[in-house]
Amino acid sequence: MVLIRSYSNRSRTLNRGMKLWSLNGMKSKQIKLFIIVIFTACIIWGWDKASRPSVLVLHPDPLSLFRPDHTKYLHQHPSSEEDFPSEENFAAPIVKVVEKVHALPPTGSNSVAKHTSDASTNEEESTLDKKECNYGKGRWVANERRPLYSGFDCKRWLSEGWSCRLTQRTDFSYEKFKWQPEGYDMPDFDGPTFLKRMQDKTIAYVGDSLGRQMFQSMMCMVTGGNDTTDVIDVGASMYGFTQPAGAKRPNGWAYHFPSTNTTILYYWSSTLCDLRPLDISNPDTRYAMHLDRPPSFLRENLHRFDVLVLNTGHHWNRGKMNSNKWDMYINGVPNNDRKLALIWKAKNFTIHSIVKWLDNELPHYPNLKAFMRTLSPRHFFNGEWDSGGRCDNNNPMSRGYVVSNDSSEDPDADGAVRDTRVRLLDITGLSRLRDEGHISKYSINAARGVQDCLHWCLPGIPDTWNEILAAQL
Ligand SMILES: *[C@@H]1O[C@H](CO)[C@@H](O)[C@H](O)[C@H]1NC(C)=O
Ligand SMILES: *[C@@H]1O[C@H](CO)[C@@H](O)[C@H](O)[C@H]1NC(C)=O
Ligand SMILES: *[C@@H]1O[C@H](CO)[C@@H](O)[C@H](O)[C@H]1NC(C)=O
Ligand SMILES: *[C@@H]1O[C@H](CO)[C@@H](O)[C@H](O)[C@H]1NC(C)=O
Repeated sequence: MVLIRSYSNRSRTLNRGMKLWSLNGMKSKQIKLFIIVIFTACIIWGWDKASRPSVLVLHPDPLSLFRPDHTKYLHQHPSSEEDFPSEENFAAPIVKVVEKVHALPPTGSNSVAKHTSDASTNEEESTLDKKECNYGKGRWVANERRPLYSGFDCKRWLSEGWSCRLTQRTDFSYEKFKWQPEGYDMPDFDGPTFLKRMQDKTIAYVGDSLGRQMFQSMMCMVTGGNDTTDVIDVGASMYGFTQPAGAKRPNGWAYHFPSTNTTILYYWSSTLCDLRPLDISNPDTRYAMHLDRPPSFLRENLHRFDVLVLNTGHHWNRGKMNSNKWDMYINGVPNNDRKLALIWKAKNFTIHSIVKWLDNELPHYPNLKAFMRTLSPRHFFNGEWDSGGRCDNNNPMSRGYVVSNDSSEDPDADGAVRDTRVRLLDITGLSRLRDEGHISKYSINAARGVQDCLHWCLPGIPDTWNEILAAQL
């Protein structure tokens, strides 16, 4: 600062240093700008350093103390995913987080580099340092080349209950839209082209039933719905996916495309927590739900994945916690922090924990691209899922067709990936506009009078999530 002031105070008594500056041919304005930039960079660097320890303390890492155990897949409760849990109201805290997130100082070495090398750009812009294109911002446009496969086909992978063409539903206009991200061209998805890009790669979806919808959608998109495509079921042989006694379905599915040596799989983990029976000998045992430990499946298989898409959200409610006999654990012991015991806080804590864990793992797997998918919105109008809530509007885009806001509507996921190598797959805002795309009253599995305003018709909205994923790869 002293330098700046003394220099700007130009007079006949210029000292030698000043002469040197002038010799370089720089004007006073340029020099000032240069010094300011260096200063800003130092401040940011210092800020970054200061803020780092608090981030690290946040998630003590108990993982290394953990011995893998091969019976646990039986205890992940692959059940009751087709019911529609209620959500606690967490609208108020969400607003707070968003404000906080935007007030955060710029961090990370990238923003510093930008500062020093690109002094001419607006400072505000360069500190934001958006590495990632925002595919969540844009508009829905009518598109005659949609859907990407027929809901009458793809029977090998598409659940009957999610295939709305097989129900009494008669309006299918919701199938005929494409998402157009603002400022980016998203090429039409083409199965063979995508498979070629995924040569020798494994794509893994891990999450709840909304993740499973995305997996089924991808299988249908890649094959164009053609059931006879050369695809080998490798779930049991390569990943040990089996159907536990008494369960409705296996813990996961994995399919191999020999033509390109590509594997696409899904593993059921509704909360992205590690679940452990507290008493293995008791069939009625309660479970430790380790909020700060990723599912063992992820820990053991991460090295096999090239693309990983995580999601969670709709199983975070008291009903599920109680019926599944889950007890929250943190750091290996029962949680006694009453604030964290609030469902929405525990969910946020878990999302942050797993993203932080992944971020620490990613340097070991330079080819792995990891995504945290944001929350899939529910559309129960005039009631909850169990009290007459409905979503039987057939009119596409009656809630608008544009997402113009830059920030994600899922602050938990958005906040978690910030300044990490994990990327955001932001589908919340664009899906919120599509209430007519749910299974609605036509659901095969829903009880009489109960509408499914949580899951989506396939083909449908989750196809767009996969197109965005393909564009981000
Ligand atoms: C298939 O891909 C895997 C990597 O995912 C690689 O290790 C293997 O060698 C490939 N197989 C062939 C036949 O190319
Ligand atoms: C489906 O895939 C098989 C094998 O790849 C191919 O022989 C067949 O022609 C395809 N059918 C259609 C309808 O595209
Ligand atoms: C979510 O968790 C992160 C990390 O634990 C925390 O910084 C943030 O404030 C939490 N958000 C809410 C709404 O509590
Ligand atoms: C954009 O999103 C933020 C955070 O959700 C919200 O506070 C703001 O009001 C939104 N802006 C508009 C124009 O909707």
